[in-house]
Amino acid sequence: MVRWDPGLYGAFADERARPFLDLTSRLDGLSPARVVDLGCGTGELTATLADRWPEAEVTGIDSSAEMLAAAEAVASGRPNLRFRQQAIQEWEPTADVDLVVSNAALQWVPGHRELLRSWLPRLHPAATVAVQIPGNEDSPSQVLLRQLAAEPRWAAALEGVDGVIARVGGMRDYLDVFLESGHRVEGWETTYQHVLTGDDAVLQWMRGTRLRPYAAALGASADAFIDELRPRLRAAYPAEHGATVFGFRRLFVVGGPVPA
Ligand SMILES: C[S@@+](CC[C@H](N)C(=O)[O-])C[C@H]1O[C@@H](n2cnc3c(N)ncnc32)[C@H](O)[C@@H]1O
Repeated sequence: MVRWDPGLYGAFADERARPFLDLTSRLDGLSPARVVDLGCGTGELTATLADRWPEAEVTGIDSSAEMLAAAEAVASGRPNLRFRQQAIQEWEPTADVDLVVSNAALQWVPGHRELLRSWLPRLHPAATVAVQIPGNEDSPSQVLLRQLAAEPRWAAALEGVDGVIARVGGMRDYLDVFLESGHRVEGWETTYQHVLTGDDAVLQWMRGTRLRPYAAALGASADAFIDELRPRLRAAYPAEHGATVFGFRRLFVVGGPVPA
C-alpha cells in the first residue's frame, strides 16, 4: 500500500489543479444530482464541484487515510460534500450517479480500463464520466527513474514496483471503452510546461507522487536511491533563470452527453 503525504503532494497545488480545472471546464451545461470524485486526494478540487453544484450530493472517494484526513477540513461547512475511504476497485456505480470525475488517480489502478468499461452500463443512462490520466511514461523523469531502478544495486529491492502504476494506454484505448458501449466521447491531450521554482523541483514533484512506491519499497535506503536520481534529473531538467521547466503530458476523456 502506497502511503501518501498531503504536504508533499500539495507542494505544487496550482500546477496539479490546472488539469482538473481544464477537465471540468468541459462540464458546462450539466446539472448533476449525484457526483463522485474517484481518487479525490485531499479534497480541495472535489470541493470545487460541491460549490459549483450546490444542489448536488458530491462524494469524494480515496483509499488513503492520510489524504482523507486532510479532506475533513474541506468538507466542513459544505453540507453537500462528503468523503469516504474506499478503493476505486471496490466502488460500486449506481444508477443514481450522473457524474463521475477522476483526476490523476486511475493510473494507480491496474486494469482501470476494464473497470471503466464495467461501470458504464451501471451508471445513470445520461451519466457523464470525466477522466484525466497522466501520459508521461516516456518523459525523461519516468525513463530515468525506471533506468535507475533497473540497475543491479536497486533491481532486487524494486522488482515489480513499477507495476504499481498501471501502464497508461493510448488515447484510442480510452475512447474505445466508451465507443464500444455506444457512448458519446471526446478526448484531448495536453502537455503542460510547468515552470517550477525551488531546488530540484522535478525531484520534489516526483517525491509527492511517482516516487512514493519506490520509497516505500526501499525503506531506509530510499534516501540513497534519491541521491542517485537527483543529479540525473538535474541534468535532464536544468534550472535556468531561476526556473525548471517540467513537461507533463496528460490525457483527457469525457464520455456521455458532452456539451456541443
Ligand atoms: C495524484 S493523487 C490525485 C488526487 C486528486 N484527484 C487531485 O487531482 O489532486 C492520486 C490519488 O489517488 C488515490 N488512489 C490511488 N490509488 C487508489 C485506489 N486504488 N483507490 C482509491 N484511491 C486511490 C491516492 O490515495 C491519491 O489521493
